[in-house]
Amino acid sequence: MAEPARRTVPYINLQAQFQAERAEIMAITERVFASGQFINGPEVSELEARWAAYCGVKEAIAVNSGTDALILALLAAGIGRGDEVITTPNSFIASTAAVCHVGAKPVFVDVLPDQNIDCDKAAAAVTAKTKAIMPVHLTGRMCDMDRIKALAERHKLVIIEDAAQSIGSAFKGKKSGAVGDYGCFSCHPLKNLNAAGDAGMLTTNDSAAAARMRLVRNHGLVDRNTVLEWGVNSRLDTLQAAYLLHRLGKVDETAAKRRANADLYRRLLDPAHVFAPPCRPEELNSFHTFVVQVDRRDALQAYLGTHGVGTAIHYPIPIHLQPAAKALGHKPGDFPVAERQAARILTLPVHQFLAEDDVRYVAGLVNRFFKP
Ligand SMILES: Cc1ncc(COP(=O)(O)O)c(C=O)c1O
Repeated sequence: MAEPARRTVPYINLQAQFQAERAEIMAITERVFASGQFINGPEVSELEARWAAYCGVKEAIAVNSGTDALILALLAAGIGRGDEVITTPNSFIASTAAVCHVGAKPVFVDVLPDQNIDCDKAAAAVTAKTKAIMPVHLTGRMCDMDRIKALAERHKLVIIEDAAQSIGSAFKGKKSGAVGDYGCFSCHPLKNLNAAGDAGMLTTNDSAAAARMRLVRNHGLVDRNTVLEWGVNSRLDTLQAAYLLHRLGKVDETAAKRRANADLYRRLLDPAHVFAPPCRPEELNSFHTFVVQVDRRDALQAYLGTHGVGTAIHYPIPIHLQPAAKALGHKPGDFPVAERQAARILTLPVHQFLAEDDVRYVAGLVNRFFKP
């Protein structure tokens, strides 16, 4: 078989995104600069209202990162020293870091073949100290929220959804961030709904908690000179809110394109060699990432790189084996599924600016690597 004609397929293409919306982005920038309202401009509350309506929740609180959204959710739920929070070791480190920052203990449980939390293992990990469960909708694929809700109801646990990767995803028609008590989103530049820097959103149906977190994100100030409780500075800049307002209107279109790319990959990739993310009928996946599991992952990544294809690994070191997690006392072998996946996962480009031929090229290379 002849070598396919070489193409360059970047893992992400923020330059293409900018070119596609240059006029709108420049107009927004000019408008906000002209207003001089860089903090607490009207776009912030407008974004909160539109985000809440989009997710189907009462409240959305704009903050300056997904990490802060997680920390504020934990604070709102009253979680701190002596409490345990069940979560998974194969997320971005921020899920665990947030739990540690409020003084609570992360209790890891292993994951399923699809990389999401194993609910049987979560049930077995509940103790008298467990206060919350933090399912991570990794890659944009929602966890089994029926089982998580049932577990939370049985043990009176707070559900904090790490929805950093799952804006627009749904499980049985309910959007991510709207099923648990709190939803925590990231708008990091690499996310489906991305800002031009750091940004995040916290969602909840608890209006009292939302009112409190709106104070906490702004130093706890109830007015210019009165602090009700100690807070932080986690305000979302007006500029970021304005960019996000513009992009929120396109987020379903972005997800649809990513879904089409993922569908094509799944049709093309050879299942004898590649485990591609499964799709359940009850889910709508926004495909923040498209992660396959393969043998000889590092060699495949190098091969794709030499053929112009950008890839990534989310994440090569499970959190329980990070130096920062030393005090938790874990060792290799504690979470065998997550550890095995860490050695086998590879994130292929799935972004909305890929052409169909890009996907065909990447899938063809992957198949050729395993069957030269
Ligand atoms: C699963 C997960 N949780 C939390 C975060 C933290 O979000 P941020 O980078 O906006 O602080 C991220 C972002 O990468 C993430 O992917």
